[in-house]
Amino acid sequence: MGSTKADVEVSYDISNEFFRLWLDERMNYTSAVYENWDQSLEAAQLNKLRILSDFAKVTPEKRVLDIGCGWGACVEYLATTRGVKDAVGITLSSAMAEEVNARKIPGVNCIAGDFRSWKFDQKFDAIMSICMMDHLCSPEEARAGKAVDIYRDFFKKCHEITNPGAQIGLQTILRNRTPRRGKDLEDIFWVTKEIFPGGLNPRMEEIIIAVNPYFEVMQVHSRREHYQKTTGEWLRRLNLNEKTICAKWGEKLFLDYRRYLETCVMAFDKHYSSLAQYELRRVD
Ligand SMILES: C[S@@+](CC[C@H](N)C(=O)[O-])C[C@H]1O[C@@H](n2cnc3c(N)ncnc32)[C@H](O)[C@@H]1O
Repeated sequence: MGSTKADVEVSYDISNEFFRLWLDERMNYTSAVYENWDQSLEAAQLNKLRILSDFAKVTPEKRVLDIGCGWGACVEYLATTRGVKDAVGITLSSAMAEEVNARKIPGVNCIAGDFRSWKFDQKFDAIMSICMMDHLCSPEEARAGKAVDIYRDFFKKCHEITNPGAQIGLQTILRNRTPRRGKDLEDIFWVTKEIFPGGLNPRMEEIIIAVNPYFEVMQVHSRREHYQKTTGEWLRRLNLNEKTICAKWGEKLFLDYRRYLETCVMAFDKHYSSLAQYELRRVD
C-alpha cells in the first residue's frame, strides 16, 4: 500500500521549524535544478519549479493540481509567479497542509488527504507532482511484482481527474544501480526504514511503462548530479545548525538526519539513486 498517513508523519511531521533550518526559504523538500554549479539553492529551486510548470503547460487560467505538495513551495510559485488563479495542493501530512493553508495564499487551497482515494469535485487542466511517487509502492509490493500496476493506477487517476489536453510536470527520485558494498546497503536500508518508511524509489523504466495508455512521454531529463548537489547543500546547512537542533530536538535527531543526508549524497554519487523529470501529455 506504499506509505500510510502514519509513515508520512514519520517523514515530515517532526517539526516545520526543524526542516526550515536546513531547506531553502520556500521549503522545497526535493531536488533543485542548477543552471550552473555556483548557483544558490534558492535560485536552483525556482529553476526546478519553472521547468516543471513549463512541462505542465501552466497558464493563469488553468486549474492546476500539485500531487504531494509538501509545504506548498510549488502551489505558492504557481499562484504568485505564474498567475494561476486556482491551484490545489494535496498532501498526506496534516501538519504540511495546515502550514500551507495558514499562509492564506490567494488562489491556493491545500487538501490534507490521500491522493489515491480522494474524490475531486472538479477536473484539472494541468498536474504537477514532485517526488511523491516514491511513496506509492512498498518494497514488499515491488518484490511481489506489483510496482508497475501501482504506478499505472496513479496515472489512470491523473487521467480521470483531468480535462483533454492536460499535461503533467513530473519529477521522481529513482532507484538505479544496485549497491554491492555492505556499508552502503546498510545505510540505504536504514534510510528507507527510519526516515521514509513504506516507500521505495521507482525505477525509470517502471514509470515509462506505467504511463501507458494514459499519458504520452514528451521528454525526460536525467538529473542525478542535481540531487547530489541539493542533498549536499541540505547537509551543509544541517551541520551549521547542529547546536540549535541538538538543543531543541536532541542529539539523536541531528545524528539521524546527518546519516540520512550523507547517505543521499553517497547514493547519488555512486549511481544507486538518480532523479528524472518528465513532460507527459494526456492521451485524449
Ligand atoms: C518528498 S515530499 C515532496 C514535497 C513537495 N512536492 C516538494 O517538492 O517539496 C513528498 C510529499 O508527498 C506527499 N504524499 C505521499 N503520499 C501521498 C499520498 N498518497 N497522497 C497525497 N500526498 C502524498 C507527502 O505528504 C509529501 O507532501
